[in-house]
Amino acid sequence: MPPSALLIPGGRGQLGADLAAARGAAGLVHAPGSAELDITDSGMLTDAVDSFADAASDAGLRPVVINLAAYTAVDDAESDRATAERVNTRGPAELAGLCRERGMPLLHVSTDYVFAGDAVEPYEPTDETGPRSVYGSTKLAGEQAVLAAHSRAWVVRTAWLYGARGANFVSAMARLCAERETVSVAEDQIGSPTWTADLAGGLLELADSVARRDEPAARVLHCTNTGSVSRYEFARAIFEELGADPDRVRPVATADVPRPAPRPAYSVLSDRQWAEGGLTPLRHWREALRVAFERHGAVWGAS
Ligand SMILES: NC(=O)c1ccc[n+]([C@@H]2O[C@H](COP(=O)([O-])OP(=O)(O)OC[C@H]3O[C@@H](n4cnc5c(N)ncnc54)[C@H](OP(=O)(O)O)[C@@H]3O)[C@@H](O)[C@H]2O)c1
Repeated sequence: MPPSALLIPGGRGQLGADLAAARGAAGLVHAPGSAELDITDSGMLTDAVDSFADAASDAGLRPVVINLAAYTAVDDAESDRATAERVNTRGPAELAGLCRERGMPLLHVSTDYVFAGDAVEPYEPTDETGPRSVYGSTKLAGEQAVLAAHSRAWVVRTAWLYGARGANFVSAMARLCAERETVSVAEDQIGSPTWTADLAGGLLELADSVARRDEPAARVLHCTNTGSVSRYEFARAIFEELGADPDRVRPVATADVPRPAPRPAYSVLSDRQWAEGGLTPLRHWREALRVAFERHGAVWGAS
């Protein structure tokens, strides 16, 4: 079966760039940025969904929408709830309604920040949520709205993304490594670093599966690179890949580096239901980081 046709709102972000690249020339992919498709603009949204549905039909391809558009400035969201709600909740809700009307499945990407972060073992998709930040609560409301609006919508939660494009923990550590002798990083935040190129592969597998109607029964799924690590240990691994001394990274407590938005202390996501849905688990985070540096080390200034 030919690959599904993809519409990717938010397609110019770090995950979007890797998702569009992963599908490459195989099939029809439209990955607009916010200037071309603002998901808070009903007219733009309707036009984009309509023309994508027509293009997929003309090409004889099964259409899938993968929503990556999000207000991701976690700290800024604390003082700008209205914008975060428009982008993370209301836009996705409207998009889901349009997808339902046109009979197109929707994958909606969400976040570990929907959890409180006080667990001691990996979160299952069905575990109780409890966001502590405006970003997390607007993303959770977006999940709920999307699932309520469309029976063929799936929420894919992920965490700790880094890719060659955009600002993320890896690019921040690479910059600080070049600028400072020592860098202080929280040792009491545990998660699963996830390379956007690996997640892109997972999303494509899921998109092609729902396009075939070979659908996972669970409608909320978790997808990250496997394994878990503290921010501090992750930073040490990044220094290793940069060819720098990892002992230049110093452990601190989150309380010593306050930020406007609280971060979950523990946000490891279980991919059990992902695997039970017939989908391929992503590789271990450390191996993914090694391969990411093989491919993109120059972007991050690796020696
Ligand atoms: N980064 C992480 O660590 C992380 C962790 C867990 C989950 N996630 C989720 O993963 C998804 C992708 O995140 P990412 O890291 O790739 O984020 P990103 O690089 O910030 O990309 C998000 C994109 O959303 C677009 N956007 C913002 N407002 C929009 C609007 N009104 N209409 C349409 N598009 C809009 C932006 O487009 P323009 O650039 O064109 O303005 C941006 O490129 C998001 O759903 C995010 O919540 C991210």
